[in-house]
Amino acid sequence: MGRRPKIQKETLPPPSKKGGTRNKMPQLLRGFKDILPSEQTYWQMMMSKALKLAQDYGFQKIDTPLLEETSLFLRSVGKETDIVQKEMYAFTDKGGDDICLRPEGTASVIRAYLEHGMIAWPQPVKLFYWGPMFRYSRPQSGRYRQFYQLGFEILGESEPVLDSQLVLLAYNFFKGLEIEIEIQINSVGCPLCRPAYQRSLINYFKPKKRLLCPTCLERLSKNPLRILDCSEASCEELKDGAPQIIDWLCEECKNHFIKVLEFLDELELPYDLNPLLVRGLDYYTKTAFEIWPIFKEDQAGLTSQSALAGGGRYDGLAQLLGQKTIPASGFSIGIERTILKVKEKEKEGKFDMDAWEERRPDVFIAQLGEAAKRKALNLFESFREHNILTSECFSKNSLKSQLEQASKIGAKYTFILGQKEILDGTILLREMEGGVQEIIDYEKAISEIKKRLEMNH
Ligand code: HAM
Repeated sequence: MGRRPKIQKETLPPPSKKGGTRNKMPQLLRGFKDILPSEQTYWQMMMSKALKLAQDYGFQKIDTPLLEETSLFLRSVGKETDIVQKEMYAFTDKGGDDICLRPEGTASVIRAYLEHGMIAWPQPVKLFYWGPMFRYSRPQSGRYRQFYQLGFEILGESEPVLDSQLVLLAYNFFKGLEIEIEIQINSVGCPLCRPAYQRSLINYFKPKKRLLCPTCLERLSKNPLRILDCSEASCEELKDGAPQIIDWLCEECKNHFIKVLEFLDELELPYDLNPLLVRGLDYYTKTAFEIWPIFKEDQAGLTSQSALAGGGRYDGLAQLLGQKTIPASGFSIGIERTILKVKEKEKEGKFDMDAWEERRPDVFIAQLGEAAKRKALNLFESFREHNILTSECFSKNSLKSQLEQASKIGAKYTFILGQKEILDGTILLREMEGGVQEIIDYEKAISEIKKRLEMNH
């Protein structure tokens, strides 16, 4: 036996200012969520759709750590963004390193690409990820402090067709969930053409600066593009007459954008050109897009600030990390927000979760008495080894409650083992829908159920 490490009092962190309530039961943090068993089907469904799409389009999975060096996001997402300024869970660890919980996945993926020499792999490298991200933002419906993203990134190629294909992938993901969406697209230019556009924005907003909200007043000198993203009424009005980036794009950015749109037209994907779309992260170049739900009624309580997915091209990100330019493009989907939409569609009768739950237990094993329980334990194992999806409730002794459980989970057949069956070497097989029961040889339980399930498929 190894020795248990002693927890030394002085290594425990000091109580927080809010702390000191020793008797209070610790609770879920604000903006965080438990995903309870009843919710899991939605998550599994999303994951299975994601895997299928990733496979169809040739993406390989990557998992990066939840903790990264803080500088990774300072340099990529951008020092002046809301994410870095207000929303990072950043701290100094016990070794004195500045680290943070990742607020997004793209920077980590490009870090991994560079660190593992993926540049030497056949290009493009197509990667996808699924996992929690952390942002200390004000929690509300559809906005959490820990939320899951499904992301797709194509690294190592600059062709516009890839941007269009990513938009298509996003479109197909939501189509597969019967969620009506709107694709909004823009170009945010590149370091060659963007500075002149930024200057034109400053020139436009400066004379009107007393009408800007306090946040945008600050943005005016630090990040003028973000003013276009502001939803404050006073700023909204000013935005209408603001210069549009499309008029300031350099030849290369303009041609790239035209080609992206041509491919989308070829695919007959409907999209909206949104000259105000600038995205909340600084690393984008050229294409930027977002996927929005089409609003009818706001059943899920989602506000207009809730995009379901967002992304674009980020050819300069590797350079921001001090490496050579790696052209890349990608997007990510907010899983919680999408599940809220799926639930709405379910209520409207447009999405059937039951149809998705293909792998419902086919068989239930019920038992009566100690000897039957012992035998049933083994029967369950044999079924499992034969890939027959089986459920049980060995902790219950009453046949009635076991049969109730079997109907509740929708089992097609229930095997019933009692004292008499044990003595006879038989087992009762009950067809749940019609309630018809027959006695069969215990040894034939597996072959018999396989036969019936095959007949039903
Ligand atoms: P983003 O727009 O910050 O982009 O996030 C993408 C999606 O994550 C959003 O559209 C939304 O659905 C979801 N999301 C963001 N914040 C929250 C939150 N607090 N609570 C719930 N859901 C949220 C990115 O993160 C980029 N890395 C996307 C990308 C990938 N660009 C290129 N490749």
